[in-house]
Amino acid sequence: MDENNGNKRGQWSGRIGFILAATGSAIGLGNIWKFPYITGEYGGGSFVLVYLMCVVLVGLPLMIAELIIGRRAQCNPVGAFQKLHKKGSAWQLVGWLGVASGFVILSYYSIVAGWALAYIYKAIVGFSGTAEAIQGQFIELVVSPFDSIMWHTIFMILCIGIVIGGIQKGIERWSKILMPALFAILLGLMFYGLFATNGGAAALNFLFKPDFSKLTAEGILSALGHAFFTLSLGMGAMITYGSYMKKERNLLRSAITVSFLDTLIALMAGVAIFSLVFHYGMEPGQSVGLIFKTLPVLFAETGPWISVPFFILLSFAALTSGISLLEVVVSYFIDHRGWSRKVTTIVLGGFIYLFGLLSAVAAWTVPFRGKDQSFFDIFDFISTNYMLPIGGFLTCLYIAWVMKDKDRSEEFGSNGPLYKALKFVLRYVTPIALIAVILHGLELLPFMEY
Ligand code: TRP
Repeated sequence: MDENNGNKRGQWSGRIGFILAATGSAIGLGNIWKFPYITGEYGGGSFVLVYLMCVVLVGLPLMIAELIIGRRAQCNPVGAFQKLHKKGSAWQLVGWLGVASGFVILSYYSIVAGWALAYIYKAIVGFSGTAEAIQGQFIELVVSPFDSIMWHTIFMILCIGIVIGGIQKGIERWSKILMPALFAILLGLMFYGLFATNGGAAALNFLFKPDFSKLTAEGILSALGHAFFTLSLGMGAMITYGSYMKKERNLLRSAITVSFLDTLIALMAGVAIFSLVFHYGMEPGQSVGLIFKTLPVLFAETGPWISVPFFILLSFAALTSGISLLEVVVSYFIDHRGWSRKVTTIVLGGFIYLFGLLSAVAAWTVPFRGKDQSFFDIFDFISTNYMLPIGGFLTCLYIAWVMKDKDRSEEFGSNGPLYKALKFVLRYVTPIALIAVILHGLELLPFMEY
């Protein structure tokens, strides 16, 4: 774009650079914190199966769609819709919604990421005392404004520090360090769970043996929503990362690799965590407190050799997602305003940081949907239930019904049977699934109880 002030846009150095950065974006708190606890809540194997189907039928096609849009336009989400359609057309609002989602999500994501950092410290000091005392540490952390804000500050400084470096020297370089480290740690923890505890077999059973009597409509919709969140879809993150991709890369192969790795890591985290849970005879359905309340109690038994790597893993996962959230917002201002990367990253990272302070203080609540809720809960709810699904739905409509066939198939790399199948799914399957998620968020699904 000429708004670029002559600066050349960044590009990934090669295939591995893109794959690691995009899997870094996808693999986050969603995989290690959320996936295991919702799997526990919704009953294990049957939920996992539905989730896998959602990844293939909804997540993967939409990821390909976002990559096609991004690479075709070579632009941030707002500019991409302007460039592919018409400047001034309403489609650019989809891009705007994406930039806004990145802003809002990072503001509260950074709080949870901060807890992960805090727990590295707590794990080094060691968990000891009664189960109540250990679980109580989490409440103390959450309600203490000073602690939450301090860790939030550290996390945002790390994100800003990486994104300032740019595409190759910042995001790609750090993804190349953090992602292999993450994989190695998780592999170690999984083997520990499988072979050094007595819970390995029970964990595999729980995750991979479907029991359909436990499957509920609520579970199916959560699987759908999660497939979407975990692949970083619906807000232009993949449009942005796709825009830094070279033309000769195969988009289908890249999207399959990223979705596969994301799913693999979630399942590995599930095995590692549930092995411990079953070894100590705990219940798998521990809801939100699984990672920060239940696991520390078990870590008091296993010692720091397991707990410290675990929270480092969680922090690395959060960091590579945090940088991609920030990059979406930053890329818009670089492409369109011609600001330098350094200034843009510091200024916007600073605003997101300040906005995040609202979520850092758990005691600040406002009435929302009939009860007093913290800003954290409200932002989480609005972004995952409304902003991302609506953004994803509109992106899907655009690529399936509006974008020119030639643009689309050229970027996809063929117009053979696979392309036709993709087009069919994007036209008829993905949007319907997303409408269900949106209606559910609005509590409007007729067959559900609200
Ligand atoms: N995928 C991330 C996770 O699993 C969270 C996320 C959602 C995200 N949307 C995003 C990350 C957009 C980066 C960009 O935790």
